[in-house]
Amino acid sequence: MIKFNEQTKIFHLQTPNSSYQILISHKGHISHVYYGTKIGDDDLSYLTRQMEYGFSNQEIFREKHSLLDFLPMEYPTDGIGDFRESALAISDAENHNGVELIYKNHKIIEETVQIPGLPCVFAENSKCQTLVITTEDAVLNVEVDLYYSVFDDCDAIVRWAKIKNNSSKTIFVNKALSAAFDMDDNNFDMITLHGSWARERHIDRRPIHMGKQGVVSKRGETSHQEHPFLAILDKTATENAGNVYGVNFIYSGNFVAEVQKNQFDSLRVTMGINPENFSWKLNSGDAFETPQAVLVFSDKGLNGMSHAFHDLYREHLIRSPFKAKPRPILINNWEATYFNFNTEKLLEIARQSKKDGIEMLVMDDGWFGKRNNDDCSLGDWVVNEEKINGGLKNLVEQVNKIGLKFGIWFEPEMISPDSDVFRSHPDWAIQIPGRVPGMSRQQLVLDIVNPEARNFAYESVAKILKSANIEYVKWDMNRQLSDIGTPCLPADQLGEYFHRYVLAVYEMQERLITDFPNLLLENCSGGGARFDPGMLYYSPQIWCSDDTDAIERLSIQEGTALMYPLSSMGAHVSVCPNHAVGRVTPFKTRGHVALSGTFGYELDITKLSDDEHSQVQKQVQNYKDYSHIVRDGDYYRIASYRENNEFDCWASITKDKKQALVTFVQVLNHPNYKSRFVKIPGLNPDKKYKATYVDEDQTQNPPVILQGSTLQNAGIKIARPWGDFGSVLIYIEMMN
Ligand code: DGJ
Repeated sequence: MIKFNEQTKIFHLQTPNSSYQILISHKGHISHVYYGTKIGDDDLSYLTRQMEYGFSNQEIFREKHSLLDFLPMEYPTDGIGDFRESALAISDAENHNGVELIYKNHKIIEETVQIPGLPCVFAENSKCQTLVITTEDAVLNVEVDLYYSVFDDCDAIVRWAKIKNNSSKTIFVNKALSAAFDMDDNNFDMITLHGSWARERHIDRRPIHMGKQGVVSKRGETSHQEHPFLAILDKTATENAGNVYGVNFIYSGNFVAEVQKNQFDSLRVTMGINPENFSWKLNSGDAFETPQAVLVFSDKGLNGMSHAFHDLYREHLIRSPFKAKPRPILINNWEATYFNFNTEKLLEIARQSKKDGIEMLVMDDGWFGKRNNDDCSLGDWVVNEEKINGGLKNLVEQVNKIGLKFGIWFEPEMISPDSDVFRSHPDWAIQIPGRVPGMSRQQLVLDIVNPEARNFAYESVAKILKSANIEYVKWDMNRQLSDIGTPCLPADQLGEYFHRYVLAVYEMQERLITDFPNLLLENCSGGGARFDPGMLYYSPQIWCSDDTDAIERLSIQEGTALMYPLSSMGAHVSVCPNHAVGRVTPFKTRGHVALSGTFGYELDITKLSDDEHSQVQKQVQNYKDYSHIVRDGDYYRIASYRENNEFDCWASITKDKKQALVTFVQVLNHPNYKSRFVKIPGLNPDKKYKATYVDEDQTQNPPVILQGSTLQNAGIKIARPWGDFGSVLIYIEMMN
C-alpha cells in the first residue's frame, strides 16, 4: 500500500511486513526517511536531521553543501555538493556536470509499469501499486521519474528511474543507477557473492568499513566472479532472526552494487548499471529508463529475506508456463560425451534413459558445422550430418519414439573465426578497428547490436527449432565482452554498447519465447555466469554451474538460493570422479543435492552399473514424490558447511506447512562422533509430524513422530551417514 500525507510531505510504502518512507524535503529534495519493520504513519521527518546545524552554519537550515552532503537521499545526483556516491550523472552540451533534482509532482498507479525492452516485474493474481515521483532539474530542463512498485503479497519494493531530456539540446547520461538509499550504520555486516568459473556465488559476510565497498561487473554479463546482489544485516542476524536488507538487480550485464560508509557513519546503498564504459546520448525529447532493482527487508533473518526474493521471482517475474509445473527430468550428453557423439550414441543414451524413467534428452554442444572441439563453427547453425547421421528430424523422431522429449544447445551470441559466417561477415564480430580482438575459448562475440547479425543468429536458431519437435533449448554464452567496437554506433554513442548488447539479448529471447511459447528455455553462461533475475524473466531455470560435484554444489547452491528459488537452479547428477574436481561422492548424495534444483543427469547412462541404474530409478521416484515441495515451498538454510566445516543442511517446506523435505549432507566423516540433531524451523509448532528417512533402511531408521515445536527447538536425529560425503533425506508430513 502507498500513502501520501500532504501535511508532512511523506510517502509511506508498506509491504505486508515492512515500511519505506520518503520525504519531500523543505528544499524539495527527495529524501530517504525510513526502511525497516512495518510501522505507523507518524511524522518521521526528524530522522533526516535536515534541521540540525551543519559545520559553521548558524542558520536553522543548513547551507546547500552541508545539507546535500548529509541529507539521506533517494536518488542522489552528481556535481552539486553531495560528495557521496551519486546515482545520476549528466553532462550537458557544454560538458558541465551538475544535476539537482527537485520535486515536481507525483502519482500513484494501481498496477505495475512495464519498461520497453527490459525484464520487469508484473502482477497477475495480486495487487500492486506504483508510486511515480517526478523530479526536475530546471537548469538542464531534464525530468527524472522515480518509480517504486509495491506488492500486497510480498516484502519487496521494486525501484527504477526514467530520465527525460525536455531541453532542446543533446545531453549525455554518464551514470544512471536504479536505486539508492541512505541509512544510519547500525554496526552492520554486509554479504556479497563471489567466485569464478565452476565456483560461482560463494557467500562472503564481513563487517562494513569506512569508505566504498561492493561488487561490480564490467564483463558484459553478470559474471561468475561477482553478483548483482548485496545484503546489509545486523551483526547478530542469523538465518532466522535479525534485520536484513537485500538488494538485487533485474539485469544481465555490467552492474555496480555498493555500500559507502561516510563521515557521519551513515551508509549509502547504490545499485545499477556500472557507469564505467557507460554513457548514453539523450537527444532532445528522448528518455532513458534504467533496469529495475529489487529491495527486500526482513526482520526474520536471512531466510526471511530469501523467502521475499523467492516469492517475488516466482509470482511476479518468471513468466514461463513451466514455472509451477514439474519440469521434465532431463539427461544432457555434455559430460557424457563432450563433442564425441553421433546419432547412435545419443539413441543408446535415450533408450537406457527411458528404462530408468528419464523424460528428456538434451543434445549439447557439437551437433553443428564441423565442430568436434571448441575451436570452430559457432555461428554455423547447420546440423553436422556426419555426426547426426540421418539428420536432426530423424534423430528427434527416434528419440520421441523411444518415449523421450528432445532438447538442444545453442550459443547464439558467439562467432568462431573458423566459421563460414565469419568468413562471409568478418565485421559481425565485436572488435576495435586496427586492434586484434582478444580471444576466449577460441571465439569472438557476435555483434548482436547490429540488427542484421542479430536477426541472422535468431533466424538460424528458429530454423532449427522449426525443423523438428524440439521442446527445450539451452542458451549458452561462453565468453565475456572485450574490445568493444561496432560499425553500428557513432563515436559519441559507443558508451551505449554494453547496455545495447543486453537489450539485444533480451530482444532475441523475447522473440524466442513468443515464437515458441511451449518451449522450455534454460539459460546458461559457461555454467552460472548469467544467473540473474533478468534471465529469469525469459527462462524459468538457469544452469547453476559447470561444477556438478555434490560437495562443491553445497556452497554454490547455498549462495544462489539466497535470492533465487530452488525451482530455477539447474542441477544434475554427474559421474565420478567428478570432471571439475576429481572427487568421488556417493551416487545417493549426488541425487539428494540435485533434487534441490531442477534435477536431471549429465553422465553416460549406458555405462552405469546395475546398482546405479536402480539408484537412478529411485531418484526419479524421489523427484516425482517430492519436487513440488522444492519447487513451490519455502526454503530454509539450516546449517552451512561453509561456516561449520562439517555438514550442510537445508529444508523446503510447503506454504501450508503440511510437507517438508530436509536434506543433510555430511562432508568428512569422523570416528567416535556424537549424533547430530538438526532443528527444523518453519513448521506448525502445534501440529504433529511424521518424519521418514527416505533412502534409508526403514528397520534401522524407522519413521519418527514429533511435534512441530519439537522439530523446531529440540531437533530431529540424523541417521548417521557412513563414509565421507554421505547424505540423508528426510520427508516430513503433518498428521491430522
Ligand atoms: C558451458 C556449459 O555450462 C556446459 O554445460 C556446456 O554446455 C558447454 N558450455 C558446452 O560448450
